[in-house]
Amino acid sequence: MGCGKIAKKHINALEQIKGARLAAVCDINPQNLLTFAKENGISSYTDYTSFLKNADIDAVIICTPSGLHTSMGQKAAEAGKHILVEKPFTLDIDQGKKLIELCKLKGAKLGVVHPNRAKKIVKALKKAVDNGWFGKITHASAVLRWNRSEEYYNAAAWRGTIKLDGGILFNQAIHNIDLLNWLIGPVDEVFAYSEKMLRKIEYEDVCVCTLKFKNGALGIIEAAVTLYPENLEESLSVFGSHGTAVLTGKTLSKIEKWKFSCITDDEAESNIEQLNNKINLAGHKLVIEDFIQAINQNREPLVSGNRAIEVLQLINAIYQSANLKLPVKLQE
Ligand SMILES: NC(=O)c1ccc[n+]([C@@H]2O[C@H](COP(=O)([O-])OP(=O)(O)OC[C@H]3O[C@@H](n4cnc5c(N)ncnc54)[C@H](O)[C@@H]3O)[C@@H](O)[C@H]2O)c1
Repeated sequence: MGCGKIAKKHINALEQIKGARLAAVCDINPQNLLTFAKENGISSYTDYTSFLKNADIDAVIICTPSGLHTSMGQKAAEAGKHILVEKPFTLDIDQGKKLIELCKLKGAKLGVVHPNRAKKIVKALKKAVDNGWFGKITHASAVLRWNRSEEYYNAAAWRGTIKLDGGILFNQAIHNIDLLNWLIGPVDEVFAYSEKMLRKIEYEDVCVCTLKFKNGALGIIEAAVTLYPENLEESLSVFGSHGTAVLTGKTLSKIEKWKFSCITDDEAESNIEQLNNKINLAGHKLVIEDFIQAINQNREPLVSGNRAIEVLQLINAIYQSANLKLPVKLQE
């Protein structure tokens, strides 16, 4: 559902996954639809209701503008389909909670696409945190230095709008904020500044935020879509009394530092060599594979609706702090 930029990644992934088949595509823009249907020789719809009546469809992947995710998810759940929703799950947490309840009622699986969680290097970092390799975690940071040009925003009317896009934290930095929260969270308090520096959009293009985690660790988020002349970096760093890990690359694709007192330098080097050799870009394929398994095994997907709500609550608190110019505590 929604055959724009990100849909291409999903369709490429589906072609490589055993047990998955693209049954149909739907988009209000017949031009986008034609390209996809022609490329794949499959049924296409401009009307969502007719699309949902197609009995061949077991699950719908929602790739429409963010502000439409929950209303479209609701229709899919009512039609008895499982739902995999692109991030952000919703721009309205109350609507998101209603969709979670509806899916429960209908027995529909609800998964949210947070592909960075499925990357090998991120999974290794999560394991290191969970196994206590860092000792006492002192601080962590997420840095997103990307470029989203005026052309990017002009290419689709919904981009850069508050109602359908939300902000750079909902659209771009959500990946990094989700990882910080997943690895070190929950967060106790945030304090943020955000500014519209360069782009002609409805919301900020640069945001910086400090965090205090409930476990006592401190955190930093730096998010910008103004980088000249192109994407520079997406990094995640965790520091503790007995460990240092820095993951980086233009799109969080490699380990730069991996040092722990519980493993030798040779073991650390071999970890880096092994993990950096694995493809760290294929997150969407891993997310869809997990979602199919979740349906077949009747378990929660890697990121369920409830898990996805947590990062949205954190993002809302960051925006609230930037608006109030005050620290904001996260509600229990
Ligand atoms: N997980 C990721 O890495 C990632 C990356 C990029 C985008 N996204 C998310 O994917 C979603 C789509 O982003 P995109 O960049 O592909 O956008 P896009 O503008 O390229 O594509 C959106 C598509 O939805 C269609 N559409 C719009 N309104 C519709 C409606 N009412 N009914 C049916 N179709 C409609 C448009 O015609 C378009 O083809 C967003 O929520 C975005 O945040 C996720």
